[in-house]
Amino acid sequence: MPVQIIVGAQWGDEGKGKIVDHLSEKVDIVARYQGGANAGHTVVLPPLKGGSEREFVLHLIPSGIFHPRVKCVIGNGVVIDPKALLEEITMLRSAGIDIRGRLFISHNAHLIMPYHKKLDSIREQGEQKIGTTGRGIGPSYIDKYMRTGIRVVDLLDRDVLCKKLKFNIEEKNELLRKVYNAEELDLDAIINEYQEFDKEIDEYVTDTARYLSEALRKGKKILAEGAQGALLDVDHGTYPFVTSSNPTSGGACTGLGIPPTSVTDVLGVVKAYSTRVGNGPFPTELNDEMGERLRSIGGEYGATTGRPRRCGWLDLVSLRHSIMVNGISRIAITKLDVLDDFDEIQVCTAYLVDGKPIDHFFTDVQTLERVKPVYKTYRGWKTPTSGVRSYRNLPRRARKYLEALQRSLKVKISMVSVGARRDQTLIVR
Ligand code: GDP
Ligand code: IMO
Ligand code: MG
Repeated sequence: MPVQIIVGAQWGDEGKGKIVDHLSEKVDIVARYQGGANAGHTVVLPPLKGGSEREFVLHLIPSGIFHPRVKCVIGNGVVIDPKALLEEITMLRSAGIDIRGRLFISHNAHLIMPYHKKLDSIREQGEQKIGTTGRGIGPSYIDKYMRTGIRVVDLLDRDVLCKKLKFNIEEKNELLRKVYNAEELDLDAIINEYQEFDKEIDEYVTDTARYLSEALRKGKKILAEGAQGALLDVDHGTYPFVTSSNPTSGGACTGLGIPPTSVTDVLGVVKAYSTRVGNGPFPTELNDEMGERLRSIGGEYGATTGRPRRCGWLDLVSLRHSIMVNGISRIAITKLDVLDDFDEIQVCTAYLVDGKPIDHFFTDVQTLERVKPVYKTYRGWKTPTSGVRSYRNLPRRARKYLEALQRSLKVKISMVSVGARRDQTLIVR
């Protein structure tokens, strides 16, 4: 298994952080390939002596960082906010997690600059609100593809940084002043701030594509950790209500510089119900008491922005799409325990479009907004599962539910998560 890719199969927040942390036990390297500090990946560690459990939310650093043997890579496809990165490094250090010699940052990764964050929030005040995380992700990727972006490598040379920043600041300040009537940014302040960042992150910067290539040559095992989810993919998601990168498995190759031939497995992380943060179509959304119940039992509030997540039933139609575009061969079902107390559990098996049943997904929002979900109802198991430690000890009705999902999706469930903790992970043999 040279490279295994872990992707979110829904709209993000499926529990990728927990699953990646679990799988990291058996790999050498964990690498993030896209997105930026819009991600919030939660890992819960066992308590230190006499204390309570420790919860960490990672935005940029891969979720393998809690295994001291594992090396972590932030690939060229990621957009890095140095401020967010340094805060994360400080947070890990103060928790006693040693990252020296274990973190490798691509010299080709693009940087998020203060004007990206400013433009992100200003654009969100306009007509077409995406409901972004406000982390400057879209504007940074715009500059990358416009070929005017500033990369990690540019921090190394003050002259290069000054030249590139001067061009960008002039352009952005004109935009801020003329189009948005907003306050301009100060060039010198940004140069000084980013040169300070350079001093802090310099020791981690390297050519990560070469590093990974060498690791592959030596037979090391690599986990590629996706951020967001397939339905937020800029090409395969519900455009324009998406993020600005490719969370789907193809993004791992371009975002890390690894060849497709090195990938042996794609694991999809699937929450036992659906959630979405931000705007855009959500066919199985529950705008009622049931949705509120899922939100409160599941603790469905954004790990990055704290926003309440929209909640609804599991949607097999969108999952089939996700399995198709990612090439998912196995899935990990998370948060099964959240459904423990429901009398009935619904699963969307098809959509009705103009009264006709359709079993495939639509990525154009015009159609997706019109579809009506067709549900199959399962009887709830009404038994707590968070203390269960093996698949066969799950309540019979919970297994029936999982096996029905497996049959309908035609992929194997290889893991079931019944709580946020490490020990609440069941391996399906
Ligand atoms: P990610 O972005 O995909 O890594 O997911 P998030 O960390 O944003 O959100 C998942 C949330 O669910 C976090 O608070 C996790 O600690 C929590 N979680 C993960 N797996 C389980 C599970 O099986 N059961 C419960 N109850 N919580 C879980
Ligand atoms: P993880 O990795 C859930 C959503 C935002 C918004 C849209 C675009 O924790 O699963 P952006 O800031 O990326 O331009 O926002 O994408 N979004 C996420 N939703 N989980 C995430 O990450 C997300 N990252 C972005 O809410 O709708
Ligand atoms: Mg998250």
